[in-house]
Amino acid sequence: MIKLSPSILAADFSCLGSQLQKIDQAGAEYVHIDVMDGMFVPSISFGIPVVKSIRPCTSRVFDVHLMIEDPARYIEAFAKAGADIITFHLEAAPNVSDVIARIRKAGCRVGISIKPATPVEAVLPYLEQIDMVLVMTVEPGFGGQSYLEHTTEKICSLRQIIREKGLDLDLEVDGGINRRTIRTVLAAGANVIVCGTAVFRGDISKNVMELKEVFCEYE
Ligand code: DX5
Ligand code: ZN
Repeated sequence: MIKLSPSILAADFSCLGSQLQKIDQAGAEYVHIDVMDGMFVPSISFGIPVVKSIRPCTSRVFDVHLMIEDPARYIEAFAKAGADIITFHLEAAPNVSDVIARIRKAGCRVGISIKPATPVEAVLPYLEQIDMVLVMTVEPGFGGQSYLEHTTEKICSLRQIIREKGLDLDLEVDGGINRRTIRTVLAAGANVIVCGTAVFRGDISKNVMELKEVFCEYE
């Protein structure tokens, strides 16, 4: 199944609760939560208290994307705050298997993300142990960037490997996805689609519904 995961990094933080209710009512399956530490990426976004305070606003899946150094330190706290899926960066984790084990122990689904320059091969040893791979389609750190065309090939090859191995694994894409590029990533085999700007700029409900309409062509 294809799912939409609107990134609240592009939301209006002064009314986050009502914006969450809008995406929920319009049918977005996930809520993408971008956590940035000012170290792994240059920006600082928000952290555990924000996740905790928005948890009661919706029962949709909290898809937490950790762009932080040494993510093992914070797994339990994000799980307690209400994360359902915790995705960390392969490039930021000194001990990948340890982070996977901690996320499982905390009762969450496990995702691993790779930056645009990290080859697909780097994540292959972990595919059997995780629930989702997140292919960054922009350099992590900021919303509103343009889709990097060379990442399409990575999505295609990961989808092919997942199929060949017969794995039940979600393939998420994040960055620069809009009405135009959404077709590229869906055709390449992505099934969890993160959209920040394309959802929160303008009419949120209309944006969610229009983006989801495209899914039918690829399901
Ligand atoms: C980038 C974040 C993305 C970002 C997506 O570091 O991981 O989730 O918010 O925003 P758009 O859709 O505007 O590129
Ligand atoms: Zn993200």
